[in-house]
Amino acid sequence: MHKLEGKVALITGGSSGIGLASARLFRAEGASIVLTGRDPQALAQAAAELGGDTLALASDAADLAQIDALMAAVQARHGRLDVLFLNAGVATAGPIETVTPAQFDSMMDTNVKGVFFTIQKALPLMGKGASIVVTTSITNQLGSPNFPVYGASKAALRSLVKSLGLALIGRGIRINALSPGPIATPIFDRFGLPPGGADAARAAITAKSPSQRFGEPEEVARLALFLASSDASYLVGEEVVIDGGMSLL
Ligand SMILES: NC(=O)c1ccc[n+]([C@@H]2O[C@H](COP(=O)([O-])OP(=O)(O)OC[C@H]3O[C@@H](n4cnc5c(N)ncnc54)[C@H](OP(=O)(O)O)[C@@H]3O)[C@@H](O)[C@H]2O)c1
Repeated sequence: MHKLEGKVALITGGSSGIGLASARLFRAEGASIVLTGRDPQALAQAAAELGGDTLALASDAADLAQIDALMAAVQARHGRLDVLFLNAGVATAGPIETVTPAQFDSMMDTNVKGVFFTIQKALPLMGKGASIVVTTSITNQLGSPNFPVYGASKAALRSLVKSLGLALIGRGIRINALSPGPIATPIFDRFGLPPGGADAARAAITAKSPSQRFGEPEEVARLALFLASSDASYLVGEEVVIDGGMSLL
């Protein structure tokens, strides 16, 4: 028996990295997939690869009107939602001296506000047994002078998952977070670092990691599947770290 047989799963930021690996795994486990991102080309590629009844929709996680349209599309196609994986996220590198208000708003709007209102707007589609998974980051516990706003945005999610864990469990809806350390996805090339900066950061992190490597998005996808499925039926409001031992240092 597949772990998500007959379930409808919405994955935000499902067109790349951790989200795409999870979409592949959730589909292999029997789910109908709805995934989002902003880049239409990446969405078309993901939809073509996943095939079947996959719905890949351009939807900006920071735009409340687009979240409304997304939920209307899920309602029209499936009439319900069993798994909501809130994985879309952005990070811009920079110390406090250089962070602009636009960068601050982009990270907070995408990583926090969008997540909160996506959950709010998805709830009418979710019933008993449904599961919500949120992607945070080990940065939210460790602190990182180059990612102060990103870390704060992910810390807000850690808090949100605890409050909503209590708010939603009475309806039979579980919410938990997964907190990745360094994972080999394109996100490092999107930090806005100078040329060579992403490679230098990758090398420094690899050298520092107790596992001496980055995690693979497929390793995170297996944790997302666990949290999303009834295997995690008694797990509520938790944040599970997956980082090869990085945050033990
Ligand atoms: N990789 C790591 O080392 C690491 C570590 C800790 C936490 N994380 C978290 O893991 C999550 C996934 O990241 P990843 O590493 O898989 O990065 P990724 O490969 O860059 O994927 C990010 C995904 O989010 C989408 N996205 C970004 N902004 C969006 C927006 N405003 N609206 C809709 N979709 C949006 C991207 O698509 P478009 O760009 O087309 O919109 C893409 O599908 C993020 O929340 C990230 O913060 C990653």
